[in-house]
Amino acid sequence: MSAPSSASAPRTLTSGPKRNSLGLRIWHWANSGLVLAQLITILFLFVIVKVKTLAPEFSRVLAEKGVTMPAAELRGLTRIVAHRIWDWHIWIGITISCLLAYRVIVSFLQRGSQRTDAKLAAIRARAARGESGATKALWVRYSYRAFYVVLAVMVVTGVLLVFEDNFRSLEHLAKEIHEVSMYIVLAFVVAHIVGVFRSEVTEEPGLISDMINGGEPAEGI
Ligand code: HEM
Ligand code: HEM
Repeated sequence: MSAPSSASAPRTLTSGPKRNSLGLRIWHWANSGLVLAQLITILFLFVIVKVKTLAPEFSRVLAEKGVTMPAAELRGLTRIVAHRIWDWHIWIGITISCLLAYRVIVSFLQRGSQRTDAKLAAIRARAARGESGATKALWVRYSYRAFYVVLAVMVVTGVLLVFEDNFRSLEHLAKEIHEVSMYIVLAFVVAHIVGVFRSEVTEEPGLISDMINGGEPAEGI
């Protein structure tokens, strides 16, 4: 997934700045957990609980017991379930938004080989030397950039939806963009996790632990 920074020989961990900065690692694991949680809220709303189908089903079950309550009236009750899940979605979303702002600060605090530009330049140098796997590593880096853009779109449209009462004219467009972006996030997450595991067990053992302990000492600091 990136420049082979890790050899299979055991490494001793040193203190001091690492290639994956502490700020990046904190952001990465916090953001991963929250993005997965966000996808789970959607899974519950639209697949597991299927909130929209609850009212007709409740209505049918009640009718079997001799209680007539039209689905339209029950909808008010089933909305309570939806609201509870949306509340989680909104608070997780707000935390993701704050984390994205934190990620921007982290990018200014990173130094030397910790910087994304430096990581890209190292891979470009490998590609120029004709090293195998360098072109793939370059595309992986670009996919991270694309993910940050999509995440920013998700945050902007999500915040617009939180304050939809103030942005009525943009509500529909924001919802559409937010929904389409979800599929891109989903595709990235699946490809990323599969790719990272594949690299870990093939050409880059230690890649995942580098995202936990920071990896090699950073250069150029
Ligand atoms: C929702 C889930 C996830 C998201 C959104 C996500 C996102 C990202 C992003 C944006 C980067 C690039 C960071 C940067 O350099 O700026 C990254 C790197 C990385 N992620 Fe994830 N990640 C997720 C889950 C995971 C999981 C579950 C693992 C491990 C099992 C993992 C392992 C890694 C590793 C090892 C890197 C560094 C790869 C490299 O240096 O090329 N990620 N991730
Ligand atoms: C990155 C992960 C995210 C995913 C996968 C995701 C997914 C979704 C989906 C599929 C919808 C339904 C859209 C529709 O009805 O057409 C939705 C709605 C919404 N999202 Fe997100 N979202 C994410 C992040 C965020 C963020 C960062 C915020 C910002 C706070 C946010 C706030 C909202 C709000 C307020 C709604 C509308 C809720 C309602 O209709 O009551 N989301 N989201």
